[in-house]
Amino acid sequence: MKILFCSSEAVPFAASGGLGDVAGSLPKNLVAQGQEVRVVLPLYGQIKEKYGEELKFVDSFNVSLGWRNQYCGLFTMDYEGVTYYFIDNEFYFYRQTLYGYGDDGERFAFFSKAILEALLHIDFEPDIIHTNDWQTALVTLYINVYYRHIQKFQHVKTIFTIHNIAYQGQYGYNMIADTLGLPQEWAHHAEYNGDTNFMKAAIENADKVSTVSPTYAHEILDPWFAHGLDPILREKQYKLVGILNGIDYDEYNPKTDKIIVKNYHSDAFIKNKAVCKAELRSLFGLEEDDSPIISMVTRLVGHKGVDIICDAMQGLVDRGYQVVCLGSGEAQFETFFNDLAARYPGRVGVKIGFIPALARKIYAGSDMFLMPSKSEPCGLSQMIALRYGAIPIVRETGGLKDSVKDSQDGEGNGFTFANYSASELYECCMRAYNGFQDTKGWRVLVKRAMKGDYSWKASAVEYIKMYEETLSLW
Ligand code: GLC
Repeated sequence: MKILFCSSEAVPFAASGGLGDVAGSLPKNLVAQGQEVRVVLPLYGQIKEKYGEELKFVDSFNVSLGWRNQYCGLFTMDYEGVTYYFIDNEFYFYRQTLYGYGDDGERFAFFSKAILEALLHIDFEPDIIHTNDWQTALVTLYINVYYRHIQKFQHVKTIFTIHNIAYQGQYGYNMIADTLGLPQEWAHHAEYNGDTNFMKAAIENADKVSTVSPTYAHEILDPWFAHGLDPILREKQYKLVGILNGIDYDEYNPKTDKIIVKNYHSDAFIKNKAVCKAELRSLFGLEEDDSPIISMVTRLVGHKGVDIICDAMQGLVDRGYQVVCLGSGEAQFETFFNDLAARYPGRVGVKIGFIPALARKIYAGSDMFLMPSKSEPCGLSQMIALRYGAIPIVRETGGLKDSVKDSQDGEGNGFTFANYSASELYECCMRAYNGFQDTKGWRVLVKRAMKGDYSWKASAVEYIKMYEETLSLW
């Protein structure tokens, strides 16, 4: 199959979160399974600066968007067996950060239209166009409005993947005519509750809608999770599927990772993981003793469960845990952790920031990894933690529920709790603490956690199945 994968970010070119990881690793795993995949990204300034020499110019043309008619350059380069295309327009994409501007809606409407226009200038006829999150959602609408009469587009099927339903591309209603330039008879596709809503347009127009875990695919039918989109999702439930993400097994491999101080693997980890733990202690100024280290690598925001973490934390420290926290976010949470570290020197270590190399040392050096999200479409950190032998303690939601099973029955790979409450979180952490006291039993658990398969292999097979199913729709 020929697949055009559309994303606003992809590792290593530009990334701000989980979508970037997925777009960086799913395509190459699909290629490894014999599919022909090409990826299209915006040519952000940072990409031009870093890869400028390697980019090959393909063509340039104009893209119309409402009353606007904008220049668009098209560049390409191959990377790890995948062909990438880059959409160039310096006005839209030569900026400091990927998102966060008043005209983000216009920027990504342009990107989405430009993707379809670019297909007219390259020698590639996709069977499937796979779009991701609100930034590329409009591809699924524009193809139906403007491109179906062109032979190349007649049989193309579209997929839309929701990585996080909290971000929908929601703007004022007048954007539909002014910026998106939709003809009146199509306007209602992009309208939701009186606003413009990019994600809603894709839920209507894509042939299949997927999300990044089976549990999240159910959860988003419920108002508690759906940020207002549950009625339309329930209506379109027949085309909704959930496929769990994987992690990049080349990138996250404790056996070969050059960032961690000693390498180890699931059949030999005791000595070297202990060296990683000792290094982590010295990095965070923690005392050497036989306490377990529980860690967090997270954005310090409400939906990651930081409020219940704060309520339970002091109790956990008092009962004997050492704590490591790396993250940044809301001021109230940053202050909480800084205060805790000041009150418990040698027991609690905190770094405010986003530092990927330090995160890697935390996965390698800690015993437990805490991720009690209020909602979590998939989550990647818990899978990285598993691979590095840091036992996840998670709330049973979304991808956390699908990737971590409680070990109470002697089979699972972590510790889980159901309700969003600090006391359940505390109780769950104490079960893990008690488990840790049984050194032999704990090693068996770590080994089982590390041996689990969290790679893209199985998920890529699921994606291929979904593509095939979509192609056979009519
Ligand atoms: C978003 C979600 C996260 C998921 C990632 C990749 O960042 O919040 O749960 O793992 O997308 O799909």
